[in-house]
Amino acid sequence: MSDAPAPGALLARASQAVREADLARRHGFVSNLIGLIIEATGLQAEVGEVCLVGTDRTRAAVSAEVVGFREGRTLLMPLGELHGIGPGTRVLATGAPFRIAVGAGLLGRILDGLGTPDDGRPAPGGIARSTIAAPPGALSRPRITERVALGVRTLDGLVPCGRGQRLGIFSGSGVGKSSLLGMIARSSSASINVIALVGERGREVREFIERDLGDALERSVVVVATSDQPALVRIKAAFTATTIAEYFRDQGHDVMLMMDSVTRFAMAQREVGLAIGEPPATRGYTPSVFALLPRLLERAGTSARGSITALYTVLVDGDDMNEPIADAVRSILDGHVVLTRALAHAGHYPAVDVLQSVSRLVGEIVSPQVAEAGQRLRGALAVLREKEDLVAIGAYQPGSDPQLDTALAHRARIEDFLRQPVNDRSDPADTDARLVELADSLACEQGIVSGDVALDAEEVVSQQIDDRSAQRILGMSDAPAIPALGLNI
Ligand SMILES: Nc1ncnc2c1ncn2[C@@H]1O[C@H](COP(=O)(O)OP(=O)(O)OP(=O)(O)O)[C@@H](O)[C@H]1O
Ligand SMILES: [Mg+2]
Repeated sequence: MSDAPAPGALLARASQAVREADLARRHGFVSNLIGLIIEATGLQAEVGEVCLVGTDRTRAAVSAEVVGFREGRTLLMPLGELHGIGPGTRVLATGAPFRIAVGAGLLGRILDGLGTPDDGRPAPGGIARSTIAAPPGALSRPRITERVALGVRTLDGLVPCGRGQRLGIFSGSGVGKSSLLGMIARSSSASINVIALVGERGREVREFIERDLGDALERSVVVVATSDQPALVRIKAAFTATTIAEYFRDQGHDVMLMMDSVTRFAMAQREVGLAIGEPPATRGYTPSVFALLPRLLERAGTSARGSITALYTVLVDGDDMNEPIADAVRSILDGHVVLTRALAHAGHYPAVDVLQSVSRLVGEIVSPQVAEAGQRLRGALAVLREKEDLVAIGAYQPGSDPQLDTALAHRARIEDFLRQPVNDRSDPADTDARLVELADSLACEQGIVSGDVALDAEEVVSQQIDDRSAQRILGMSDAPAIPALGLNI
């Protein structure tokens, strides 16, 4: 009895609910349609609010989202095919932002960009969740201290990814980004994968799901918006996937979020930006693209309950790693993996250019021994890269650079470590052991050929000098030379 709210409090709550309720049906009318933009007059709606266009008895309404305003008119973009829209068509504001249904039933399902099942099976249901959300607070994010095994030797050993880290995979077209993502989706140690295919070719979707993902589909949710989908749907696909990953993170899971590709997401936002009259800035990308990227990418990462480890592919135009989207994404993420065409042409897969790839958390997520071994291997790769032209034209004289000699002697073993067939899955403990062994061998041989040996030789000489001097002083020998080292004293 004492727990029941007082009548006054109940009344206050009810009156607040009435004050806040969206009681009037807010509607307007289509006045213009230019390109992808529907202009409506008389509509009271906020940016990001979903509206229904064309609510008549014969046709289902088309959902559209408010994307801006111009000279007193509301600008909307459709979230589906535009049909049955003409001057004066009614537009009804729903009072809600775009929401998707999330729940455990999404596992193993393939959804469209708006979160509706696309695999012919009934909708799994779930709770409605807005696709717009704030990232976890900067101070509430636990630090990243543990490596998540990606199952790809080069990455696990040399560009390791922490649980909750965000990595970009950068390359020109056709160098192997999608294949690498598929490899990781199959092999990673994450309990749940959420995969967004944004703006990809329709043909590739089935290929990815059947060939690359295979059995891993059971523990995955795939969100697909192919290149023929409206720009807004492609943008929503990225946010839908992120929202689903957040749902599973909130349930305490360690989620792997993969997005192929962020570039196509940025291109979709550029389409929207240009359509609503934003000025084009760098390479035609509008300012809103650069504002939206951190709002998408910052949502992955660790939270107090679970983690989202995220991999985003970035298509770099003409293999130019400094193009604006690549630059912006690289500055937001915690590391980048660069795939190069030269390696792909040489049949070296995965075509990861280790020297250009960086994981910002390497020191925190692998043992010092593995980190040091990685550094040593990078050193050998750097020497090989620096002198590769000399070696290729046969101008290099073996023996003139001991470091290069060692690296050349280990080249086959290094390649063997870095290459991995697409269907192979590597074990992280085995990767570490192989890396340390390889680095030890490099160090050991370098010791014999270069630094340590020179020291050894000096030590031997000084030892012999000392011995001779001692013998002479003691009158035990009068031999003047040390023939083995060709030195006279
Ligand atoms: N690990 C691999 N082993 C063998 N071949 C590979 C491997 N990865 C990629 N390839 C080859 O490269 C081709 C292109 O790969 P993929 O589609 O993954 O590239 P992409 O970078 O995603 O291309 P796009 O930019 O067009 O999306 C594949 O069809 C395949 O022939
Ligand atoms: Mg691809």
